[in-house]
This record gives sequence, structure tokens and C-alpha cells, in this order.
Amino acid sequence: MRLTILGGGGFRVPLVYGALLRGTSAPIDEVVLYDVSAERLTAVGHVLEQLAAGHRRPPRVRVSTDLDEALRDAAFVFSAIRVGGLRGRTADERVALQQGLLGQETVGPGGIAYGLRTVPVTLRMAVRIAAVAPRAWVINFTNPAGMITEAMRRVLGDRVIGICDSPVGLIRRAAHALGLDPTRVAPDYVGLNHLGWLRGLTYDGRDVLPDLLADDTALKGVEEARLFGAAWVRSLGALPNEYLYYYDFTREAVAAIVGAAETRGEALLRQQERFYATVRREPSRALGEWRRTRRERDASYMAETRDGARAGERDQADLEADGYEGVALALMAALGRGGAPTTMILNVRNGTAVPGLPPDAVVEVPCVVDAGGVRPLATRPLPGRFLGLIQQVKAAEQLTIEAAVTGSADLALHAFATHPLVDSVSTARHLLDDYRARLPALATLLPTRH
Ligand code: G6P
Ligand code: MN
Repeated sequence: MRLTILGGGGFRVPLVYGALLRGTSAPIDEVVLYDVSAERLTAVGHVLEQLAAGHRRPPRVRVSTDLDEALRDAAFVFSAIRVGGLRGRTADERVALQQGLLGQETVGPGGIAYGLRTVPVTLRMAVRIAAVAPRAWVINFTNPAGMITEAMRRVLGDRVIGICDSPVGLIRRAAHALGLDPTRVAPDYVGLNHLGWLRGLTYDGRDVLPDLLADDTALKGVEEARLFGAAWVRSLGALPNEYLYYYDFTREAVAAIVGAAETRGEALLRQQERFYATVRREPSRALGEWRRTRRERDASYMAETRDGARAGERDQADLEADGYEGVALALMAALGRGGAPTTMILNVRNGTAVPGLPPDAVVEVPCVVDAGGVRPLATRPLPGRFLGLIQQVKAAEQLTIEAAVTGSADLALHAFATHPLVDSVSTARHLLDDYRARLPALATLLPTRH
């Protein structure tokens, strides 16, 4: 079976290919990498070739800058693009920080700007997928993943499923802290992408989360508990996704990001420019250079916020665990095989799974997956303070999609103004003007109509 990766020249593609080389769960014998940059495709091609060396029958790799050609006969499509590249990401961060707001890849105004320029591109890709590979399963990693999955659903319906590695990481940490096998716990996790809570963890028929919340020593083993503090997670009665830090401790997060020498986007841009330039000069060093850059990237993940909250270093288990490539491959295997259904936390159409959110909204909840597709499990009602937050953020996401689809600057303004991390309409106006000045893709939004 053929797997096509959109954004195939991206830095994380070797993670996916490495997981394919290790695992036998997915019957993929060919990987097609599509990207707008031939140079990045060449660099990643070198890394993959060196990764495959010594493996018996590694999946073939083909690269292409022609979208239709890349999509033809794909059984699976991974969408992992970054519209505007890491330079775009730094603009997303800096413009918001200049307004004294959170500057982050997916949360807050940065995520709206990123969504505004990404929705149209991913919709055009979805149209080509529907035309050329209508039977393919599309696994969306492209951020902001919940919003982009929701937009792509307009074209692809249930064939597109969004993924993230943060819920499964949280569950793994919680299980490890209790000395339990993470594959044997059933999570009660609910929310939107990068905005959810683990409210229960069933092991052997019993909810063991209260045990964890009551145990200060065990909580120290969970990075999220170190970030938010034992007292706060205990009073929530839940473990928040790490991205909730930006909502619950906005001031501290902004101060930590402003105080750091570089934003996350700037640090990654520096690391990756060096990587691609080195590989261009010396292709034989591609794999070594990729590994070094990856270690640097992983060790510094959320470093400012962890330092700001004195949450300490990342756990070794987290550095070694399969990240989002593990989620993607597990999903691919579950969709591809005819056997017993699997439960995974995915980004799918709500339907009635989360009471209080629109049926068409994409939510991040446990789902049952088999060869027929993905079905969300019903969740317990959310308390008002959780529900209110996800309703408001979902409204901002839906306004962003609508603004991007219609090209309406007026709707874009409403998207910024609706977001709980934007504190006034005039700030929202500044954001829109500044993003339009810095990001060419947004300058094409129509002028405000009224
Ligand atoms: C996690 C999230 C992704 C996000 C990434 C950022 O993996 O689930 O959605 O893009 O972190 O990591 P980075 O190294 O790019 O800051
Ligand atoms: Mn994610």
C-alpha cells in the first residue's frame, strides 16, 4: 500500500519513516513525499535513505513536487504541511507578543493567524485528494489540527481524521506515575485539540485518577502536574493537557516567552536552517545531522514554560517515546486491519459526543477505530468552567475557518476578538493589521466591509 506524505520535505518525516521501518503493523511498501520545495525533499530523501540502510525490504521512497501525481493510488495520506514555514510561525508568535498577548504556534492569536493562512491551502489539497485518491484515509497532523481537520471535513467528510500526540503523552505519564501499563488504562479525556482534560483513568474497572491526584510524590512524575502545580490539578479534579498552561497561567507563559532569547519558532528556524544547509553541502551527513537537530529540538520542547514554572527537565521516557508518528501509525493500522476495534484519542466530528458543542465541530475525544472508520465515544457532561472555555475557543476556530473560506477580514476580526486570550476589540484590530502586514497570505483578505 502507498502512503503519501504532504509536507514530505518536513523535518519530522524521518520519524514517520523510522516508525515504518521498526513496525510491522502497517503494510506500507511505498512512501511518496510531496512538498513545494524540491530542495527539502532531497534533504529528507537523503535522511530516509540512510535510515533504511541495513534494513531488509524497507518501504520504497519517491519524491514529487506534483500534487496529483503524488496522490495517485494512495491508500493513506498524511497531511503535515506548514504554510508559511517556520518564518510564518515566528510572525505568528511575534505579532501577538508585541500586543502583550500569548505568541504561540497553535494557541491564541498565533493559532488564528496560522489557521487563516492554512485553511485555504489544505482545502485545495483536500479537493485534489477527493478527485485523485477518493478512497484514501487522510490523517491530518497539520496545525492547528482541530481547526484544519474541521475545515478539510467540508470536502472529505469522515475520510479525514486529525491527530495529536499530547493526549496520549499525558495518559502515558499518568499511568507511569502510578506504576501502571499505559496500554491497559482507559482514559476519560475530553476537549478540543490542545485544549482538553484527563478526568478519569480506569484500570481494572476502577478509576485510579483520584489516587494519582491525592499523591504528591506520584504527581511529581507527571510533567503537567509539575507545570500546573499539585494544588491546582487537585482542585480541578483533572489533569489538563500541557497546552492548558497557556490559558490557566497566561501571564507567566507570556513572561517566560518574552524573557527567552528566542521564541520556539525562532529556535526551530535556526536549528532547521542549519540542518537543511548542512545536508545540501554534505548529503552523506544527513542522518547524523538530523539526529543531532532532533535531540536539540526534543530537549528544548516547551523549555520556556517549564523553566518559568520550575517544572524541571523532560522525562527520559518522554524523550524516548513514539511521538505523533506513533499515533499516526497506530491509527493507520487500526483503519487498515479487519480485526478487533481499537480505542484512540482523535480529532473527529462531535455529533453528540460532547454535549454543548455543535455536531459539526471537531472535538478531541476517545474514539473506536476499525476498518470501517472512526466513531467518537460519548463523554460525561463537562462542568461549566471547562465547557465555557471550549465553546468560546471553538467559536473562534469556526470564525477563523469561515473567514479563511470567504476571505472576509471582518470575520477574521471577529475570530481574534472572540478568542479568550485576546483582551479587547481594539487589540484584535491591531492583530489583524499587523498580521496582514507581516504575512503575505493574509494580506489578500478582503477589506473590512462594515
Ligand atoms: C506537539 C504537538 C504538536 C506541535 C508540536 C510543537 O507535538 O502535539 O501539535 O506542533 O508539539 O513542537 P515544536 O517542537 O514544533 O515546538
Ligand atoms: Mn498537537
